[in-house]
Amino acid sequence: MGVFDSGYGGLTVLKELVSLLPEYDYYYLGDNARAPYGPRSFDTVYEYTLQAVKWFFAQGCPLVILACNTASAKALRTIQQNDLPSLGPEKRVLGVIRPTAEVIGDYTTSGHIGLFGTEGTVQSGSYVLEIQKTFPELKVTQEACPMWVPLVENNEHHLPGSNYFILKHVQHLMQQDPAIDTVLLACTHYPLLEPSIRSFLPENVQVISQGAITARALQEYLKRHPAMDAALSKGGGRHFFTTGHPGDFNHKATLFYEQPVEAQKIALV
Ligand code: DGL
Repeated sequence: MGVFDSGYGGLTVLKELVSLLPEYDYYYLGDNARAPYGPRSFDTVYEYTLQAVKWFFAQGCPLVILACNTASAKALRTIQQNDLPSLGPEKRVLGVIRPTAEVIGDYTTSGHIGLFGTEGTVQSGSYVLEIQKTFPELKVTQEACPMWVPLVENNEHHLPGSNYFILKHVQHLMQQDPAIDTVLLACTHYPLLEPSIRSFLPENVQVISQGAITARALQEYLKRHPAMDAALSKGGGRHFFTTGHPGDFNHKATLFYEQPVEAQKIALV
């Protein structure tokens, strides 16, 4: 099974996948050399993500999870519709947006959802569209937080100065819709900011991360698709790859994965 992210953030998703479905072999790839994807155009995110998907297929992964919200928002549909038929009709690429959108309505009582994401995820409108398919009655308010990924990437998020940027977006979201009772962290990096985000939200507001939701959705998917399940090797292997510097990756990855990691460098073309 391949798990892709623009950088480190997808490791928060991988951690949950491995915890729920430990028997599978996982290949994780972070495109750290070209991260962040958040501010990049549709065309660029699509081009980079397609390169990654082709790389996973070449390694023998029949299933690739785009653990990156930005890649799921900007590249997934085109890859599924335009590229998969020629790359391998029996192969699959899945994202993190639909599984989250399909359950988010179960968490709210007020029917008002808040969402924090990168500029790319928010501008794409993908969450609003997907949530409306399952829960048309929900009101979804989005807030783009361009500083949050750099704060986490630079390991500055524990420092007091980071609270300025967190409070700013939390306040702005809640001012737009004070009836919000559920906030979705629609970016793989944001679980690391969760304690600070929570501390600035009213007590009745719950904070939802995607890792566990994605893992449960994948478990259900594999039950519904036994041929795919049979095609996935189950040796419990964990293999890490980065387009960036492996030493940096190994060091920072432990923040997200909470276990030591040893990555190999690869190039995407
Ligand atoms: N992994 C990305 C996401 O979930 C955030 C980092 C980036 O901007 O590349 O949207």
